Amino acid sequence: MFKGKNVLVMVTGSIAAYKATTLVRLLIKSGAQVRVGMTTSAQEFITSKTLSILSGQDVLTDLFIGHTSQVIHIEWARWADVIFVVPATANIIGKIANGIADDAVSATIIASSADKVIAPAMNDVMFHNPAVERNLEILKQDGWLVVEPVVGYLAEGYEASGRLPEPIDILQQADIRLRAKKGQLIGKKVVITAGGTKEALDPVRYLTNRSSGKMGYALARAAVEKGAEVKLVTTIDRENIFGVEKIIVSSTQEMFDVATHEFTDADIFIGAAAVSDFKPAKLAEHKIKKQADGGLQLTLVQNPDILKTIGFSKKDHQIVVGFAAETKEVIAYGTDKLVKKHADMLITNDVSNSDTGFSSDDNAVTILVPDQLPEALPKTTKIEIARAIITRIITLK
Ligand SMILES: Cc1cc2nc3c(=O)[nH]c(=O)nc-3n(C[C@H](O)[C@H](O)[C@H](O)COP(=O)(O)O)c2cc1C
Repeated sequence: MFKGKNVLVMVTGSIAAYKATTLVRLLIKSGAQVRVGMTTSAQEFITSKTLSILSGQDVLTDLFIGHTSQVIHIEWARWADVIFVVPATANIIGKIANGIADDAVSATIIASSADKVIAPAMNDVMFHNPAVERNLEILKQDGWLVVEPVVGYLAEGYEASGRLPEPIDILQQADIRLRAKKGQLIGKKVVITAGGTKEALDPVRYLTNRSSGKMGYALARAAVEKGAEVKLVTTIDRENIFGVEKIIVSSTQEMFDVATHEFTDADIFIGAAAVSDFKPAKLAEHKIKKQADGGLQLTLVQNPDILKTIGFSKKDHQIVVGFAAETKEVIAYGTDKLVKKHADMLITNDVSNSDTGFSSDDNAVTILVPDQLPEALPKTTKIEIARAIITRIITLK
């Protein structure tokens, strides 16, 4: 989202101003050109020198000093594709909401038609002041993307709301919400499964597989980026993704119960979990002891088939997408599975390659859709593969 973009970071006079340094570094790392503006109060908390060195640019602090031939706030306002106000004081929120432009930061913001992100940070009583709440409401109505503060340890020495989220979370949220603004999945519910299911043998052991859940998480992120409401039914608790509700499960039966329930009012189902076809016939009440003859026979029984059940229960407006992880004859098995599971799309991947598939950050897949030629997506990151898959799913509607 921010790669190649001109991003203006406006820092105001909060104790959380130091976190702007991390935000600037993360933005630069993601490929953005970054400039920084600071209010007079912000410079009481961190120096403009620090942010100037981090951004590699002079920091905007004053409208009238040093820039004789340019109307600096207009030039900066036009330059910006995105403006972040991080951290944002009650004061700057009030000024922007009411059209006040009495310093370099507020004047530049008001002169710009860039996408705008604001992250308030303040004492909890300040944050819940009716005037501050009213001003934030105005900013939301004016199209600002407000990153809500989190509950946490405040500078005043107690836990309350008003704390600035970590810069990495601000960036993730802004990235997702800015992409989702015109997303084709706004108002749609997407249910995704992820991870390898775990089939318990006894209270301490289970049978599972090598799935890391990364592909399912990437799909969840790609779906929220298009504006969807996403439920991620997963056996693996990886990172939080803004807008994605994780439901942690363990066995295939649990995943089946949650996924089929969530699917009833969903628009799209994507089964990216590596589901165990079998489970032990019985769960031992106590830890299984070493056997006298050195061996242990396990009897396995069939698990319920999540994809098939959902595929055969889908209504006309619902789309069902499955994954086939194979180690040979990938397209042939995938085509067979597409028909047998009554799916609208099947994504096949060859998990015998160690540089793609399970655990890897990359993947290479082939998309199978009934009556269409297979479409190969060459090796790239899982998030790029996920974005391509979500884009194809949207075209099925
Ligand atoms: C130590 C200290 C910490 C402050 N922290 C905050 C804060 O976190 N949030 C806030 O809204 N104001 C905070 N203030 C008050 C602002 O700095 C003050 O309202 C200032 O006028 C804001 O100016 P600015 O919006 O131009 O940066 C703090 C003040 C001091 C002295």
